[in-house]
Amino acid sequence: MVQLYYHDNKDTEENFTDDHNSGIPVSVEELSELGVIYKHVTSQEELDALAKEREYKNRDQVHLNLETFKNDVDAYNAKMKQFYTEHYHEDEEIRYIVEGEGFFDVRNKGDKWIRAKLSKNDLLILPEGIYHRFTLTNKREVTAVRLFKDEPKWEAINREQ
Ligand code: LAC
Ligand code: NI
Repeated sequence: MVQLYYHDNKDTEENFTDDHNSGIPVSVEELSELGVIYKHVTSQEELDALAKEREYKNRDQVHLNLETFKNDVDAYNAKMKQFYTEHYHEDEEIRYIVEGEGFFDVRNKGDKWIRAKLSKNDLLILPEGIYHRFTLTNKREVTAVRLFKDEPKWEAINREQ
């Protein structure tokens, strides 16, 4: 089940895949005010229905762990750093966790990071244009379905420094 909280902003290059829980919780309602919708989805039918209702045309499934990177820790870390670079996408997108865990951080209206620690059956709908970042947890394993409104393009628009 999802854990929602404010990030503690104590990231370093070494520890950014830790939980970073500030101890300040966030509710599903507070998240929804940003247009970010959380759902607990336990069946393929439910996922398909949601995709149909919101007119999603494409999806793929990704499995990420150290083996995906041939056990090359540097390559793995480089990918995590890329995912963790703040960016947005031009389309709404859905991310659904099949197995494992991941962190999705989204900016609230005051530009603070809200963290969603997602695990099995957690689903997040991110509106177009919201600044976010992603990384795996220290378990270093996730299987996730990525649902795309249109073409599965993968353009990330990074935030300027
Ligand atoms: C995403 C992350 C990886 O959009 O940024 O799925
Ligand atoms: Ni993204």
